[in-house]
Amino acid sequence: MPEAPNPEASDAGTAAAQPRVLSGIQPTADSFHLGNYLGALRQWVAMQDTHEAFYCVVDLHAITVEHDPALLRRRTKVAAAQLLAMGIDPDRSAVFVQSHVPEHAELAWVLSCLTGFGEASRMTQFKDKSAKQGTSGTSVGLFTYPILQAADILLYTPEPDAGRALRVPVGEDQRQHLELTRTLAQRFNHRFGETFVLPDAHIPEGAAKITDLQEPGAKMSKSASSPQGIIDVLEEPGPMRKKIMRAVTDTGSEVVYDEEKKAGVTNLLRIYSALEGTSVPDLEARYAGSGYGQFKKDLAQVVLDTFTPIRERTLKLLDDEEHLDRLLARGAERASAVAVRTMETVRERVGFVGRGR
Ligand code: TYM
Repeated sequence: MPEAPNPEASDAGTAAAQPRVLSGIQPTADSFHLGNYLGALRQWVAMQDTHEAFYCVVDLHAITVEHDPALLRRRTKVAAAQLLAMGIDPDRSAVFVQSHVPEHAELAWVLSCLTGFGEASRMTQFKDKSAKQGTSGTSVGLFTYPILQAADILLYTPEPDAGRALRVPVGEDQRQHLELTRTLAQRFNHRFGETFVLPDAHIPEGAAKITDLQEPGAKMSKSASSPQGIIDVLEEPGPMRKKIMRAVTDTGSEVVYDEEKKAGVTNLLRIYSALEGTSVPDLEARYAGSGYGQFKKDLAQVVLDTFTPIRERTLKLLDDEEHLDRLLARGAERASAVAVRTMETVRERVGFVGRGR
Protein backbone atom coordinates (compact mmCIF):
# COMPACT_ATOMS: atom_id res chain seq x y z
CA MET A 1 0.00 0.00 0.00
CA PRO A 2 1.49 3.41 -0.88
CA GLU A 3 2.33 5.50 2.14
CA ALA A 4 0.34 8.68 2.74
CA PRO A 5 2.44 11.75 1.92
CA ASN A 6 3.92 13.33 5.01
CA PRO A 7 4.56 17.04 4.39
CA GLU A 8 7.12 17.12 7.21
CA ALA A 9 9.19 14.27 5.75
CA SER A 10 9.24 15.30 2.10
CA ASP A 11 11.83 17.51 0.46
CA ALA A 12 14.64 15.72 2.33
CA GLY A 13 14.51 17.90 5.43
CA THR A 14 15.16 21.24 3.75
CA ALA A 15 14.13 24.22 5.88
CA ALA A 16 11.47 25.13 3.33
CA ALA A 17 9.72 21.79 3.88
CA GLN A 18 9.90 21.67 7.66
CA PRO A 19 7.26 22.95 10.04
CA ARG A 20 8.11 26.28 11.62
CA VAL A 21 8.75 27.08 15.25
CA LEU A 22 8.62 30.54 16.78
CA SER A 23 9.02 31.61 20.37
CA GLY A 24 10.07 34.62 22.43
CA ILE A 25 11.45 35.48 25.85
CA GLN A 26 11.61 38.79 27.70
CA PRO A 27 14.93 40.38 28.66
CA THR A 28 13.56 41.54 32.00
CA ALA A 29 16.03 39.88 34.37
CA ASP A 30 19.80 39.48 34.68
CA SER A 31 19.44 35.79 33.94
CA PHE A 32 16.86 33.29 32.72
CA HIS A 33 15.63 30.92 35.44
CA LEU A 34 14.98 27.23 35.81
CA GLY A 35 11.27 27.66 34.96
CA ASN A 36 12.13 29.36 31.65
CA TYR A 37 14.63 26.62 30.90
CA LEU A 38 12.39 23.62 31.59
CA GLY A 39 9.11 25.18 30.50
CA ALA A 40 10.36 26.57 27.21
CA LEU A 41 14.03 26.98 26.32
CA ARG A 42 15.00 23.33 26.35
CA GLN A 43 12.28 22.71 23.79
CA TRP A 44 13.60 25.60 21.68
CA VAL A 45 16.94 23.83 21.44
CA ALA A 46 15.43 20.44 20.62
CA MET A 47 12.94 21.73 18.06
CA GLN A 48 15.54 23.40 15.87
CA ASP A 49 16.54 19.88 14.71
CA THR A 50 13.18 19.29 13.09
CA HIS A 51 11.83 22.79 12.41
CA GLU A 52 12.71 25.99 10.65
CA ALA A 53 13.27 28.04 13.80
CA PHE A 54 12.76 31.70 14.76
CA TYR A 55 13.62 32.71 18.32
CA CYS A 56 13.42 36.27 19.55
CA VAL A 57 14.35 38.32 22.57
CA VAL A 58 11.22 40.41 22.99
CA ASP A 59 12.47 43.83 24.00
CA LEU A 60 9.24 45.57 22.87
CA HIS A 61 7.39 43.49 25.45
CA ALA A 62 9.98 44.40 28.09
CA ILE A 63 9.02 48.10 27.99
CA THR A 64 5.38 47.45 28.87
CA VAL A 65 6.50 47.95 32.47
CA GLU A 66 8.76 50.70 33.74
CA HIS A 67 12.37 50.01 32.81
CA ASP A 68 15.88 51.38 32.81
CA PRO A 69 17.28 51.84 29.23
CA ALA A 70 20.88 50.86 30.06
CA LEU A 71 19.70 47.77 31.90
CA LEU A 72 17.42 46.77 29.05
CA ARG A 73 20.30 47.03 26.58
CA ARG A 74 22.50 44.88 28.81
CA ARG A 75 19.82 42.30 29.52
CA THR A 76 18.95 41.97 25.84
CA LYS A 77 22.56 41.01 25.08
CA VAL A 78 22.77 38.67 28.06
CA ALA A 79 19.51 37.03 27.00
CA ALA A 80 20.77 36.47 23.44
CA ALA A 81 24.07 35.09 24.75
CA GLN A 82 22.23 32.62 27.00
CA LEU A 83 20.13 31.35 24.10
CA LEU A 84 23.26 30.65 22.06
CA ALA A 85 25.03 29.16 25.08
CA MET A 86 22.13 26.74 25.61
CA GLY A 87 22.65 25.34 22.16
CA ILE A 88 20.55 27.41 19.78
CA ASP A 89 22.64 27.23 16.63
CA PRO A 90 22.75 30.54 14.73
CA ASP A 91 23.60 28.68 11.52
CA ARG A 92 20.30 26.82 11.65
CA SER A 93 17.98 29.08 13.65
CA ALA A 94 17.22 32.78 13.39
CA VAL A 95 18.06 34.26 16.81
CA PHE A 96 17.11 37.92 16.82
CA VAL A 97 15.96 40.95 18.76
CA GLN A 98 12.28 41.77 18.27
CA SER A 99 12.79 45.53 17.80
CA HIS A 100 15.18 44.84 14.89
CA VAL A 101 12.18 43.67 12.87
CA PRO A 102 9.69 46.58 12.89
CA GLU A 103 6.97 44.47 11.26
CA HIS A 104 6.22 43.04 14.75
CA ALA A 105 4.84 46.40 15.87
CA GLU A 106 3.09 46.98 12.55
CA LEU A 107 1.21 43.69 12.57
CA ALA A 108 0.37 44.22 16.24
CA TRP A 109 -1.47 47.42 15.25
CA VAL A 110 -3.53 45.64 12.61
CA LEU A 111 -4.39 42.81 15.02
CA SER A 112 -5.29 45.25 17.78
CA CYS A 113 -7.96 46.62 15.48
CA LEU A 114 -9.45 43.12 15.32
CA THR A 115 -9.39 42.55 19.09
CA GLY A 116 -12.38 43.32 21.27
CA PHE A 117 -11.80 45.46 24.33
CA GLY A 118 -13.58 42.88 26.48
CA GLU A 119 -11.58 40.08 24.94
CA ALA A 120 -8.29 41.80 25.85
CA SER A 121 -9.63 42.58 29.33
CA ARG A 122 -10.04 38.87 30.04
CA MET A 123 -6.32 38.07 29.77
CA THR A 124 -5.39 36.73 33.20
CA GLN A 125 -1.73 37.77 33.07
CA PHE A 126 -2.83 41.36 32.45
CA LYS A 127 -5.39 41.16 35.25
CA ASP A 128 -2.78 39.84 37.70
CA LYS A 129 -0.07 42.32 36.77
CA SER A 130 -2.33 45.36 36.62
CA ALA A 131 -3.91 44.42 39.94
CA LYS A 132 -0.43 44.47 41.50
CA GLN A 133 0.53 47.79 39.90
CA GLY A 134 -2.75 49.67 40.18
CA THR A 135 -4.50 51.48 37.28
CA SER A 136 -2.26 54.53 37.31
CA GLY A 137 0.89 52.38 37.13
CA THR A 138 -0.45 50.22 34.29
CA SER A 139 0.38 51.15 30.69
CA VAL A 140 -1.84 50.63 27.66
CA GLY A 141 1.14 48.66 26.30
CA LEU A 142 0.70 46.12 29.08
CA PHE A 143 -2.97 45.82 28.10
CA THR A 144 -2.14 45.16 24.44
CA TYR A 145 0.85 42.93 25.25
CA PRO A 146 -0.87 39.68 24.16
CA ILE A 147 -1.72 41.23 20.78
CA LEU A 148 1.95 42.02 20.17
CA GLN A 149 2.68 38.41 21.11
CA ALA A 150 0.11 37.24 18.54
CA ALA A 151 1.89 39.39 15.95
CA ASP A 152 5.27 37.87 16.91
CA ILE A 153 3.88 34.45 16.14
CA LEU A 154 1.73 35.13 13.08
CA LEU A 155 4.43 37.06 11.21
CA TYR A 156 6.21 33.73 10.79
CA THR A 157 3.22 31.87 9.42
CA PRO A 158 3.99 29.44 6.62
CA GLU A 159 1.82 29.81 3.50
CA PRO A 160 -1.60 28.42 4.50
CA ASP A 161 -1.66 25.95 1.58
CA ALA A 162 1.87 24.60 2.11
CA GLY A 163 0.77 22.05 4.73
CA ARG A 164 3.39 23.24 7.22
CA ALA A 165 2.59 23.65 10.91
CA LEU A 166 3.50 26.64 13.08
CA ARG A 167 4.48 25.56 16.60
CA VAL A 168 5.11 27.68 19.67
CA PRO A 169 7.03 26.12 22.60
CA VAL A 170 5.97 27.86 25.84
CA GLY A 171 5.17 27.16 29.48
CA GLU A 172 1.63 26.71 30.81
CA ASP A 173 1.25 30.43 31.70
CA GLN A 174 1.19 31.33 27.99
CA ARG A 175 -1.70 29.05 27.04
CA GLN A 176 -4.31 31.81 27.09
CA HIS A 177 -2.16 34.09 24.93
CA LEU A 178 -1.81 31.29 22.40
CA GLU A 179 -5.57 30.82 22.35
CA LEU A 180 -6.02 34.52 21.65
CA THR A 181 -3.47 34.24 18.83
CA ARG A 182 -5.47 31.44 17.22
CA THR A 183 -8.69 33.41 17.58
CA LEU A 184 -7.14 36.48 15.93
CA ALA A 185 -5.65 34.41 13.10
CA GLN A 186 -9.04 32.84 12.47
CA ARG A 187 -10.78 36.20 12.57
CA PHE A 188 -8.31 37.74 10.14
CA ASN A 189 -8.64 34.77 7.76
CA HIS A 190 -12.42 34.97 7.92
CA ARG A 191 -12.56 38.71 7.18
CA PHE A 192 -9.74 39.08 4.70
CA GLY A 193 -9.05 35.61 3.23
CA GLU A 194 -6.80 32.70 4.22
CA THR A 195 -3.53 34.29 5.37
CA PHE A 196 -2.42 32.66 8.60
CA VAL A 197 -1.85 29.07 9.69
CA LEU A 198 -3.30 28.56 13.18
CA PRO A 199 -0.36 28.11 15.57
CA ASP A 200 -0.14 25.20 17.99
CA ALA A 201 1.11 25.69 21.55
CA HIS A 202 3.80 23.18 22.44
CA ILE A 203 3.62 22.86 26.24
CA PRO A 204 5.83 20.22 27.90
CA GLU A 205 4.26 17.62 30.16
CA GLY A 206 5.57 17.68 33.71
CA ALA A 207 7.68 20.85 33.43
CA ALA A 208 5.05 23.29 32.15
CA LYS A 209 4.84 25.03 35.52
CA ILE A 210 7.90 24.99 37.74
CA THR A 211 7.10 26.55 41.09
CA ASP A 212 8.98 28.81 43.51
CA LEU A 213 11.36 26.95 45.86
CA GLN A 214 10.14 28.98 48.83
CA GLU A 215 6.46 29.19 47.86
CA PRO A 216 5.67 25.93 46.08
CA GLY A 217 2.12 27.15 45.39
CA ALA A 218 3.37 29.99 43.15
CA LYS A 219 5.00 29.91 39.72
CA MET A 220 8.77 30.41 39.67
CA SER A 221 8.94 33.96 38.36
CA LYS A 222 11.40 36.83 38.10
CA SER A 223 8.88 39.02 39.92
CA ALA A 224 8.86 36.70 42.95
CA SER A 225 9.01 38.31 46.36
CA SER A 226 12.35 36.70 47.28
CA PRO A 227 15.30 35.59 45.11
CA GLN A 228 15.64 32.53 47.36
CA GLY A 229 12.81 30.86 45.48
CA ILE A 230 14.36 31.21 42.02
CA ILE A 231 17.24 29.28 40.47
CA ASP A 232 18.98 31.43 37.88
CA VAL A 233 20.74 29.84 34.93
CA LEU A 234 23.72 32.17 35.49
CA GLU A 235 23.86 31.66 39.24
CA GLU A 236 27.19 30.88 40.92
CA PRO A 237 27.46 27.24 42.17
CA GLY A 238 27.63 28.11 45.89
CA PRO A 239 24.38 30.09 46.15
CA MET A 240 22.68 27.68 43.76
CA ARG A 241 23.40 24.69 46.00
CA LYS A 242 22.26 26.62 49.06
CA LYS A 243 18.94 27.55 47.50
CA ILE A 244 18.18 23.94 46.65
CA MET A 245 19.24 22.69 50.09
CA ARG A 246 16.96 25.33 51.66
CA ALA A 247 14.00 24.71 49.35
CA VAL A 248 10.76 24.38 51.28
CA THR A 249 9.90 20.74 51.68
CA ASP A 250 7.00 19.42 53.60
CA THR A 251 6.47 17.68 56.89
CA GLY A 252 7.59 14.07 56.91
CA SER A 253 10.70 12.80 55.20
CA GLU A 254 9.43 10.65 52.35
CA VAL A 255 10.43 11.62 48.81
CA VAL A 256 7.05 11.03 47.17
CA TYR A 257 5.03 12.83 44.52
CA ASP A 258 1.88 14.37 45.98
CA GLU A 259 0.75 17.67 44.50
CA GLU A 260 -1.63 18.47 47.34
CA LYS A 261 0.17 17.36 50.45
CA LYS A 262 3.77 17.68 49.28
CA ALA A 263 3.86 20.54 46.81
CA GLY A 264 7.51 21.37 47.57
CA VAL A 265 8.88 17.85 47.13
CA THR A 266 6.67 17.35 44.09
CA ASN A 267 8.17 20.42 42.42
CA LEU A 268 11.70 19.18 43.14
CA LEU A 269 10.81 15.74 41.76
CA ARG A 270 9.51 17.32 38.58
CA ILE A 271 12.70 19.34 38.18
CA TYR A 272 14.89 16.32 38.83
CA SER A 273 12.91 14.12 36.47
CA ALA A 274 12.96 16.69 33.65
CA LEU A 275 16.68 17.41 33.98
CA GLU A 276 17.89 13.84 34.34
CA GLY A 277 15.32 12.17 32.11
CA THR A 278 14.39 9.69 34.88
CA SER A 279 10.74 8.99 35.61
CA VAL A 280 9.23 10.21 38.89
CA PRO A 281 8.47 6.64 40.13
CA ASP A 282 12.11 5.66 39.49
CA LEU A 283 13.28 8.65 41.52
CA GLU A 284 10.87 7.80 44.33
CA ALA A 285 12.28 4.28 44.38
CA ARG A 286 15.89 5.56 44.35
CA TYR A 287 15.28 7.80 47.39
CA ALA A 288 12.95 5.50 49.35
CA GLY A 289 14.03 5.75 52.97
CA SER A 290 16.94 8.13 52.39
CA GLY A 291 15.24 11.39 53.44
CA TYR A 292 15.22 14.86 51.91
CA GLY A 293 18.90 15.72 52.51
CA GLN A 294 20.49 13.26 50.09
CA PHE A 295 17.76 13.90 47.52
CA LYS A 296 18.38 17.65 47.55
CA LYS A 297 22.15 17.26 47.48
CA ASP A 298 21.95 15.07 44.38
CA LEU A 299 19.42 17.37 42.73
CA ALA A 300 21.72 20.34 43.31
CA GLN A 301 24.47 18.46 41.49
CA VAL A 302 22.18 17.69 38.54
CA VAL A 303 21.19 21.38 38.28
CA LEU A 304 24.83 22.44 38.49
CA ASP A 305 25.90 19.95 35.84
CA THR A 306 23.25 21.41 33.53
CA PHE A 307 23.85 25.11 34.14
CA THR A 308 27.61 25.40 34.73
CA PRO A 309 28.57 24.88 31.05
CA ILE A 310 25.79 27.26 29.98
CA ARG A 311 27.05 29.91 32.38
CA GLU A 312 30.61 29.53 31.14
CA ARG A 313 29.62 29.74 27.47
CA THR A 314 27.40 32.77 28.14
CA LEU A 315 30.25 34.66 29.78
CA LYS A 316 32.54 33.81 26.87
CA LEU A 317 30.00 35.04 24.32
CA LEU A 318 29.62 38.27 26.28
CA ASP A 319 33.37 38.80 26.08
CA ASP A 320 33.07 39.46 22.36
CA GLU A 321 30.06 41.71 21.91
CA GLU A 322 30.87 42.55 18.32
CA HIS A 323 30.62 38.90 17.38
CA LEU A 324 27.36 38.61 19.29
CA ASP A 325 25.99 41.69 17.50
CA ARG A 326 26.91 40.18 14.14
CA LEU A 327 25.09 36.96 14.97
CA LEU A 328 22.00 38.95 15.99
CA ALA A 329 22.17 41.01 12.79
CA ARG A 330 22.22 37.80 10.77
CA GLY A 331 19.26 36.48 12.74
CA ALA A 332 17.32 39.69 12.15
CA GLU A 333 18.02 39.47 8.43
CA ARG A 334 16.60 35.96 8.22
CA ALA A 335 13.58 36.89 10.30
CA SER A 336 12.98 40.04 8.22
CA ALA A 337 12.94 38.07 4.98
CA VAL A 338 9.84 36.23 6.25
CA ALA A 339 8.25 39.08 8.21
CA VAL A 340 8.40 41.56 5.32
CA ARG A 341 6.64 39.11 3.01
CA THR A 342 3.89 38.37 5.53
CA MET A 343 3.32 42.10 6.08
CA GLU A 344 3.07 42.73 2.32
CA THR A 345 0.26 40.19 2.14
CA VAL A 346 -1.41 41.62 5.24
CA ARG A 347 -1.30 45.19 3.89
CA GLU A 348 -2.76 44.13 0.60
CA ARG A 349 -5.54 42.04 2.24
CA VAL A 350 -6.49 44.80 4.67
CA GLY A 351 -6.82 47.29 1.82
CA PHE A 352 -3.83 49.57 2.27
CA VAL A 353 -2.74 51.22 -0.97
CA GLY A 354 0.76 50.23 -2.07
CA ARG A 355 3.38 52.96 -2.10
CA GLY A 356 4.06 54.04 -5.70
CA ARG A 357 7.60 53.82 -7.09
P1 TYM B 1 8.56 35.04 29.64
O1 TYM B 1 9.72 35.86 29.19
O2 TYM B 1 7.86 35.42 30.88
O3 TYM B 1 8.99 33.53 29.81
C1 TYM B 1 9.67 32.81 28.80
C2 TYM B 1 9.15 31.39 28.74
O4 TYM B 1 9.36 30.72 29.99
C3 TYM B 1 8.13 30.09 30.39
N1 TYM B 1 8.07 30.10 31.86
C4 TYM B 1 7.87 29.01 32.63
N2 TYM B 1 7.68 27.72 32.31
C5 TYM B 1 7.53 26.84 33.34
N3 TYM B 1 7.55 27.21 34.65
C6 TYM B 1 7.74 28.49 35.00
N4 TYM B 1 7.77 28.83 36.29
C7 TYM B 1 7.90 29.47 33.97
N5 TYM B 1 8.10 30.81 33.97
C8 TYM B 1 8.21 31.18 32.68
C9 TYM B 1 7.05 30.95 29.77
O5 TYM B 1 5.85 30.22 29.64
C10 TYM B 1 7.65 31.32 28.44
O6 TYM B 1 7.43 30.32 27.47
N6 TYM B 1 4.77 36.41 26.77
C11 TYM B 1 6.00 35.63 26.76
C12 TYM B 1 7.05 36.12 25.79
C13 TYM B 1 6.64 36.17 24.36
C14 TYM B 1 6.37 35.07 23.51
C15 TYM B 1 6.09 35.64 22.23
C16 TYM B 1 6.34 33.69 23.71
C17 TYM B 1 6.51 37.30 23.61
N7 TYM B 1 6.17 36.97 22.32
C18 TYM B 1 5.78 34.82 21.15
C19 TYM B 1 6.02 32.89 22.62
C20 TYM B 1 5.74 33.45 21.36
C21 TYM B 1 6.58 35.72 28.16
O7 TYM B 1 6.28 36.58 28.91
O8 TYM B 1 7.54 34.87 28.42
